[in-house]
Amino acid sequence: MTDPIVGFSKLSKQKKIEWVAQRYTHNPIETKKILERYWNTENEVQKLHDEFIENTITNYYLPLGIAPNFLINNILYALPMAIEESSVVAAASKAAKFWLDRGGFKSEIIGTEKIGQVHFMYYGDPTKLEEFFKAVYHKLVKDAKPLTKNMEKRGGGISNIELRNKTTELKYYYQLHCTFETLDAMGANFINSCLEQFALTFKNEAQKSALFTEKEKKIEIVMSILSNYVPNCIARAEVNCAVEDLKMNTAIPPREFANNILRAIDIANVEPHRAVTHNKGIMNGIDAVVLATGNDFRAVEAGVHAYASKDGKYKSLTKASIENGIFKFWIEIPLALGTVGGLTNLHPLVKLALEILQQPTAKELMQIVAVAGLAQNFAALSSLVTTGIQEGHMKMHLLNILNQLGATATEKDELITYFKNHTVTHGAVAEAFEKLRGS
Ligand code: MEV
Repeated sequence: MTDPIVGFSKLSKQKKIEWVAQRYTHNPIETKKILERYWNTENEVQKLHDEFIENTITNYYLPLGIAPNFLINNILYALPMAIEESSVVAAASKAAKFWLDRGGFKSEIIGTEKIGQVHFMYYGDPTKLEEFFKAVYHKLVKDAKPLTKNMEKRGGGISNIELRNKTTELKYYYQLHCTFETLDAMGANFINSCLEQFALTFKNEAQKSALFTEKEKKIEIVMSILSNYVPNCIARAEVNCAVEDLKMNTAIPPREFANNILRAIDIANVEPHRAVTHNKGIMNGIDAVVLATGNDFRAVEAGVHAYASKDGKYKSLTKASIENGIFKFWIEIPLALGTVGGLTNLHPLVKLALEILQQPTAKELMQIVAVAGLAQNFAALSSLVTTGIQEGHMKMHLLNILNQLGATATEKDELITYFKNHTVTHGAVAEAFEKLRGS
């Protein structure tokens, strides 16, 4: 084993690259070239990127695509989507177009509550803790005022602090379960700062409290952190139309198609293996817009999957019904998003994505993102229950295969035309390519 490096973060970018290239790659000169190819040297963008994280050596690009024609609450949007998977933007655009002709998407906010918790251990009488909590509540809020006053001016702030006794689940474990309204900010920094202040006040006041014995005074704060599980920060999106209007570009009759969509959801609800893939398709749309708008897709992912299991079993995030001849398809999804703070004012492409979305409020962005998830699921299920997914997917993947094979622009044109009427598989493309080159 080679020695670990000490002080890597202090090295210059050049030295970091040299170190990683020499130690871990077979061709350091080529490594350096690849990394430099992705630098942005013409303006201040590189400096920004360098400072987003520690030890930046280059930029990692993803395609930013546009899915147009999303009619949401009667406003026509073009969704910016950052994603590498070939078929996602095409599928979103197709679903958007389909529903554009059927009244578009309706979306609403069901709640915007954010959550944070101070986790602590208390070795004493629970009723005394409750009494202490009641007595200290106003001081908790007051001591956090310097942190909350700006948010309060805009109409947000701390909504509630609750003492929760969790000792039946874990001995001596209690928490301050806190809820917040963070308006257009995702609010992670705001919430975490408030929580750390609550923890400090709580511990200090306990030490002074006449209610407690010496043992009880020693409250042990374990951690103070927001929760990415936000089951009351929910956007709902829906589409509906008469069953007869569900005419797809296939021979399948509308009613059969509608029934198949319902069955696909029923299957996801009883079979977690299917539900995970079903929801993964939803996240294709959600993550792509979340990422393009500079939001934390890991937080969204974690919260969404926890929500999918809220009934004790991992289930579909989308629902569908047929009633009185009307097909209804909808999603309710937890989304803690921001349109101010974080990267939103820093990353030029994030700023642009928000401009393309007409500078949405956080609530509007939540609605747009919920729609992106619903549209993506509709596109996936429509293919799955009719032609199968591979036809469209492989058509979109064709270019990747041709690029892997090193096809020229003319060869690509010719092979794309050829595969309009032939099934795309890796083998079939390689064969057609070799034939074209005459080898
Ligand atoms: C692929 O990225 C997503 C799908 O597998 C989703 C689904 O199966 O519903 C097509």
